[in-house]
Amino acid sequence: MKASVSFLAGLFLAVSCMSCHSSRENAGGFSAEKEIDYCRSQAALTLSSLPSADKIPNSVDKDSSTWNYTGIGSWTCGFWPGILWYLYEDTHDSQWKKSAEEVSNLILPCAYKKARSHDSGFIMMTSLGNGYRLTGNPAYKKALLSAADSLAALYNPKVGTLLSWPNMVKKENWPHNTIIDNMMNLELLFWAARNGGDKRLYDIAVRHAETTMRHQFRPDYTNYHVAVYDTIDGHFIKGVTHQGLSDDSMWARGQAWAIYGYTMVYRETGDSRFLDFARKVSDVYLKRLPTDMIPYWDFAARDFLPAEPRDASAASITASALLELSTYVANADSAAFYREQAVAMLEQLSSPSYQAGGQSSAFLLHSVGHMNKKWEVDASISYADYYYLEALTRLKRLESGRSVLARL
Ligand code: GLY
Repeated sequence: MKASVSFLAGLFLAVSCMSCHSSRENAGGFSAEKEIDYCRSQAALTLSSLPSADKIPNSVDKDSSTWNYTGIGSWTCGFWPGILWYLYEDTHDSQWKKSAEEVSNLILPCAYKKARSHDSGFIMMTSLGNGYRLTGNPAYKKALLSAADSLAALYNPKVGTLLSWPNMVKKENWPHNTIIDNMMNLELLFWAARNGGDKRLYDIAVRHAETTMRHQFRPDYTNYHVAVYDTIDGHFIKGVTHQGLSDDSMWARGQAWAIYGYTMVYRETGDSRFLDFARKVSDVYLKRLPTDMIPYWDFAARDFLPAEPRDASAASITASALLELSTYVANADSAAFYREQAVAMLEQLSSPSYQAGGQSSAFLLHSVGHMNKKWEVDASISYADYYYLEALTRLKRLESGRSVLARL
């Protein structure tokens, strides 16, 4: 299919602006509209550089200008098509839709396979979930319903949570493990229960959120990355870390997943316990942030290792979540506070210190994938970009008097 004139013009503009980022100094100040334009230019560059649709942009190493790719089925494979869907939502340009569909259709068969981990929620909701939200394509709906049933097969009713990482049961001797990231993937279960799937999926999601709330948080509302439970009687054995600095520290992205996760669970249930909890886990994160609003990859890293990298992915996930949270909080001052905090995060992420333009075609610099394994340290990562664009889209909607998210 021939590319439209406006799409090609945008691509030309993007390519010709590739080297002008360092001199633009975020000209004109921050605006959601302007930063979405920036994301569009960067994504057009990425798109034009891809050898084929199954090479999915995943990360750009520190000081590199080229993408490392991931394959269909990896936990991060949905973020790139998710970005393409958000750009289609913003522009209504069918070229973005075509590109989003091309990758989403490659992911679609994964929905009919056994879920290897909780990550099927990330994979499906970012790609097919956004695709269904924006197009109503029945093939996406069918696939999402299948993926939700498959995800629910990881549920252990004795514990009351999903098993996040089956491959860690033997490897780490974690008989039933639930990671905080798993909160995000309850969204697929809620979606399915609302869209013709088994109503039991709703109950599973609520029970998972309740059990996690009870065991996976310390008294100060920071969380353990991993909660380990007994499979026989379901009791909580211990809380440990996998990607954080230590078992007792606040891994930045883990807390961000909790903020986003509990805000989403409140959206889906209307249960005020989850709104209160979303606020508590947000408040401790906000209270301990450095003044520039971007956390170190682990909050304890600030105290002991001052040269440690920041994690822009945690900031973009949190900014997106706080914008939504701000719309649920009844007290006007508190609502304004959460929104202002989110905007301050987005302003910082949109500064030349954090935007990748001029170096690569990613949106953002300075995220940490897995510090303990030295993977993607101080890198650009697709999920930081995805939640940054999602947050900007949400802010633009709020600024024009619409609800924070459009959905079918
Ligand atoms: N869900 C994996 C991570 O946040 O790194």
